[in-house]
Amino acid sequence: MHIQVFDNELQAGQAAATLIAAQILNNPESVLGFATGSTPLPAYQELVRLTQNGILDWSRITTFNLDEYVGIPADHEQSYRAFMMKNLFDKVNIKPEAVHVPNGVAEDPEEECLAYERAIRQTCGIDLQLLGLGRNGHIGFNEPDTAFTTLTHVVDLTDDTIDANARFFEKSSDVPRQAMSMGIGTIMQAKKIVMIVTGASKARAVRSMVCNPVDPNCPGSVIQLHANTVVLLDRPAATALNYC
Ligand code: F6R
Repeated sequence: MHIQVFDNELQAGQAAATLIAAQILNNPESVLGFATGSTPLPAYQELVRLTQNGILDWSRITTFNLDEYVGIPADHEQSYRAFMMKNLFDKVNIKPEAVHVPNGVAEDPEEECLAYERAIRQTCGIDLQLLGLGRNGHIGFNEPDTAFTTLTHVVDLTDDTIDANARFFEKSSDVPRQAMSMGIGTIMQAKKIVMIVTGASKARAVRSMVCNPVDPNCPGSVIQLHANTVVLLDRPAATALNYC
């Protein structure tokens, strides 16, 4: 695992965008895994800028997002698909059919997860997976104590995650209680992992992820076992690393 600390979240995001841009330039048919949340926004802004400057071509790129809320339709403003359209896909020349996000209102969510996993396998696999980290150490919506072998599955969100995501909804009771998420096994099959973690509220999770032995109680720690991982931190997220 390679760890890089930047002065601020903008630089960490721009560094992630640089790695994603390099992936697209090296292989214009790349399969990219994306994350939602606040953390990747600076990276998406930079990718949009590079695209609008004529540097990146998304016409042969395929994407798979990590997760989606159960019960939230694609056109709901808090759906993860809507987030991705607004912040990235509507601003680059990706083909609509090349964008994959689990269908939050699928009749059978379990079957939707199986189909999503199959769709990933029908490509040559994810070349580069972008990740954030939850305050409780989650990756995707794989909450503490998720088995490392899990594939895309339906997840019950923890109170901590519901609380962290309440800022996007009018009231916390509006936050969905379940999500569909790539599993830890799915994420670990990506050929390269780029994780961005920013902000002081993540410092403890970063410490557990990096300094402690690999432990399902901190799902992010599994990336210690991945052969090609870069972790991009801002200074506040890296503060607890001094005591490693
Ligand atoms: C989002 C996701 C989550 C977030 C994590 C951090 O698709 O899978 O694991 O990466 O919850 O969220 P933010 O960036 O909002 O702090």
